[in-house]
Amino acid sequence: MAWTLAAAVADFTGRDVVGVECRGQRIAVYRIGESFFATSDTCPHQGASLSRGCIVDGLIECPAHFALFDIRTGTAEGGPTSRPIKTFATKVELDGIYVDLDA
Ligand code: FES
Repeated sequence: MAWTLAAAVADFTGRDVVGVECRGQRIAVYRIGESFFATSDTCPHQGASLSRGCIVDGLIECPAHFALFDIRTGTAEGGPTSRPIKTFATKVELDGIYVDLDA
C-alpha cells in the first residue's frame, strides 16, 4: 500500500464531503460519523464532480443528474448510470486522512 495524504480531519468542519487532487487524480473524501471513505470524484455518467453532491444514507448523489453511488463499495444504486465508481482504502493518522491510490 502507498498511503497519500488527501485531507485533514479539520477540513470536514461543517462538511461531509471534500474534493481533492491526489497524485493527479480527483478524489472525493467523505466523513460518515467518525469514519472516512474515499472514491473517485468523477461521475461515470458525464463526469460531474461527486464532491459537489450530497450524502444521503451512505450514498453520494451526483449533483448533475442525481445518480447515486454507495460510498463504501462504489456500486451504482440508482439514476442514469449503472457503472460503479472506484473506491480507495483510507486511514487517519495525526489528524491527516490518507488514501491508498494503488489498491
Ligand atoms: S454526470 Fe453524474 S449523473 Fe450525470
